[in-house]
Amino acid sequence: METLANLFEANKKWAQEITKKQPNFFKELSKQQTPKYLWIGCSDSRVPANEIVNLPPGGIFVHRNIANLVVHTDLNCLSVIQYAVEVLNVQHIIVCGHYGCGGIKAAMENKPHGLIDNWLRHIKDIYRIHKTELDALEDEEERFRLLCEKNVIEQVTNVCETTIVQKAWKAGKKLSVHGWMYGIEDGILKDMGVCTTN
Ligand code: CO
Repeated sequence: METLANLFEANKKWAQEITKKQPNFFKELSKQQTPKYLWIGCSDSRVPANEIVNLPPGGIFVHRNIANLVVHTDLNCLSVIQYAVEVLNVQHIIVCGHYGCGGIKAAMENKPHGLIDNWLRHIKDIYRIHKTELDALEDEEERFRLLCEKNVIEQVTNVCETTIVQKAWKAGKKLSVHGWMYGIEDGILKDMGVCTTN
């Protein structure tokens, strides 16, 4: 049996280092969580939410899936949003896409990938909506980058249109929805300037 001892070893070191600096860190955190942010990002191993914004455990509530999609029938994602908004009272929802996203790339290809094609279907719809603008770009890499950005903007709209966010805004809750892009080649975040507050 493979026990992945290296990961347990790394975990022990990590926990010890934190407790060395803040002896009560885990004890305090075990009592409650009060993250200010909900992060909706891609499952890509190169886009780890906490590390990118340098937040410790407890700092950010996270939902990740392939290509950071917010689908109106996805109970998993919707449940995360509801809990974050209604129970944790986060004031910011960040949808973070990234350049070089494999999900977006696969959606641009004209070949079958199996089950995941049903998920990628949502990205193909976004391509269709922005077809003229995308097809006008001759460079395939540029087209790829633009679709990654269009996807994030579209997902921000999807978050805003959820019954959860609509209800929060109607109740006068302070809640902003942001669209960001992350560069896996330089580690830098870019704000897409689509922040929506009501
Ligand atoms: Co991705």
